[in-house]
Amino acid sequence: MCGIVGIAGRSEVAPRLVDALKRLEYRGYDSAGVATISSGRLDRRRAEGKLVNLEERLDGEPLPGTVGIGHTRWATHGAPTESNAHPHFCNGVAVVHNGIIENFAPLRAELIAGGSVFHSQTDTEVVAHLLAGYRTDGLTPREAMGKAVPQLEGAYALAVLFEDEPDMILGARSGPPLAVGHGKGEMFLGSDAIALAPFTDEITYLEDGDWVVITRDGLEIYDEGGSRVERASQLSQGAAYVVDKGNHRHFMEKEIHEQPEVVSNTLSHYVDFAEGRVKLEAAQLDFANLDRLAMSACGTAYYAGLIGKYWFERFARLPVEIDVASEFRYREMPLPGRMAALFISQSGETADTLASLRYCRANNLSIGAVVNVRESTIARESDAVFPTLAGPEIGVASTKAFTCQLSVLAALAMIAGRARGTLSAEDETDMVQALVTAPRLFNEVIRAIEPQIVTLSRELARFKDVLYLGRGTSFPLALEGALKLKEISYIHAEGYAAGELKHGPIALIDENMPVIVIAPHDRHFDKTMSNMQEVAARGGQIILITDEKGAASASIDTMATITVPEAAEIIAPMIYSLPIQLIAYHTAVFMGTDVDQPRNLAKSVTVE
Ligand code: F6R
Repeated sequence: MCGIVGIAGRSEVAPRLVDALKRLEYRGYDSAGVATISSGRLDRRRAEGKLVNLEERLDGEPLPGTVGIGHTRWATHGAPTESNAHPHFCNGVAVVHNGIIENFAPLRAELIAGGSVFHSQTDTEVVAHLLAGYRTDGLTPREAMGKAVPQLEGAYALAVLFEDEPDMILGARSGPPLAVGHGKGEMFLGSDAIALAPFTDEITYLEDGDWVVITRDGLEIYDEGGSRVERASQLSQGAAYVVDKGNHRHFMEKEIHEQPEVVSNTLSHYVDFAEGRVKLEAAQLDFANLDRLAMSACGTAYYAGLIGKYWFERFARLPVEIDVASEFRYREMPLPGRMAALFISQSGETADTLASLRYCRANNLSIGAVVNVRESTIARESDAVFPTLAGPEIGVASTKAFTCQLSVLAALAMIAGRARGTLSAEDETDMVQALVTAPRLFNEVIRAIEPQIVTLSRELARFKDVLYLGRGTSFPLALEGALKLKEISYIHAEGYAAGELKHGPIALIDENMPVIVIAPHDRHFDKTMSNMQEVAARGGQIILITDEKGAASASIDTMATITVPEAAEIIAPMIYSLPIQLIAYHTAVFMGTDVDQPRNLAKSVTVE
């Protein structure tokens, strides 16, 4: 949800700001802008739409200066126009902002009553006006910041320039993350360490409520009470990652194809393949002494959690309470003793997931987090961190992070099963042996089914609606398949538990609504087949995703049958993720949509 960057440098910063914004563009791409101070004058370039438009603007009208800030926007308040693009200016103050200032309306009304004239519909502009007002009253930038920040309610990460203090940038965070990068004679600010990776790997993360002053030579951090504080710096892994598409057309395609490797890396962290056991020491949560596990996440991460619920309940006999984080945080659910909470997030910054975590923290629960970004806020606020080793996921539609989340949840459910004495050593060894085969099967499946899926997707691209069905762990996969298709191809799609079909959605079935049925030949297969018959009897067109046994025993005409190798129950959801990801990807490619940056979406959702 918006990316911000700032550089107090020794050479021209505009090109470097744009370079950093490219690494943040996954957070929003409705508009972008940069501002610098040169010869004591604040100036900016802004452009609607993708960053490439800003680059073109800068080519025609370069922006000199060695100190500057930049922004890539995911619109919350006001249309994605140039006038709403950041940086916002007011009387020598420039502001970029990620988040939402929830009390912007009363602040704005007060400022207007005091004579301020606003030039955008954004919530952000109030910050520029507040700071400029305090400067006019004679306060220093630090004093102005110290007075303005406590008035802001909501979520924000800010970077601010003052025209008459051309060597400094001020930053503040409450909610969304803000990282300070330490360079050689230069300092940086950024929404995450990956943005700053080309410049430095030494990072100081601001804590919630902190604000900071950076100059070329150093930083001063203040806490929310205005007291000077020290925050330790650390070496970030962000710089280790190369963020490019390699030989792929899209990041999403690259990330789908990376899954054999990243799932293997992730599993190795939790599973001792040589011993045929899960690594108990990876647990860090006292599963043996829990009566219940609360889980929460958003979107794709939530669907991973839903699958995890099946596993924890089946293999560890541990009841799981799971909800989407936007509901979880407000439900005021009772959290009785002997309960722990597990949160799942690729970015580790999702606002609702973080708020749910803090609700559980306030209720004294032990907190575990399955996260991809190790240095994220959710990771830092958890007692136990269960990393997914997916590497940076840049495509907005989550793919490899999802299968890595499944890998971690499968291992954790087994660890919990062992700790609780509900999973026998033999079953554990069998399941580990199944997990070992996952990376190889990923490779085989991609190679075997992708050409068929390209052909199928050309046909699917003609339809306006698609239904996904599944039972057991294939039900959350049906939800995930529908989410993936709608978010990148803009085809309307719904996921249903196959058994729910006859309770309503069957009314929609006709030849214009293909039904994608996810049905491994498992203990649910026969029941799912009956549901397929119900669809066929009503003229519905079926795309069956199954294994060899399933394909052989499904006596039904299909529009296509996608056959994957037989997979043990514990890895089936990971393997069946591939066809649903590839269907969404290739359909979107045929539709000609912007696969990596679908409209209206952003990768890291740091607002409610
Ligand atoms: C869909 C997708 C989103 C995210 C959701 C949570 O493809 O990527 O639904 O899964 O916004 O994000 P994280 O995992 O970063 O908390």
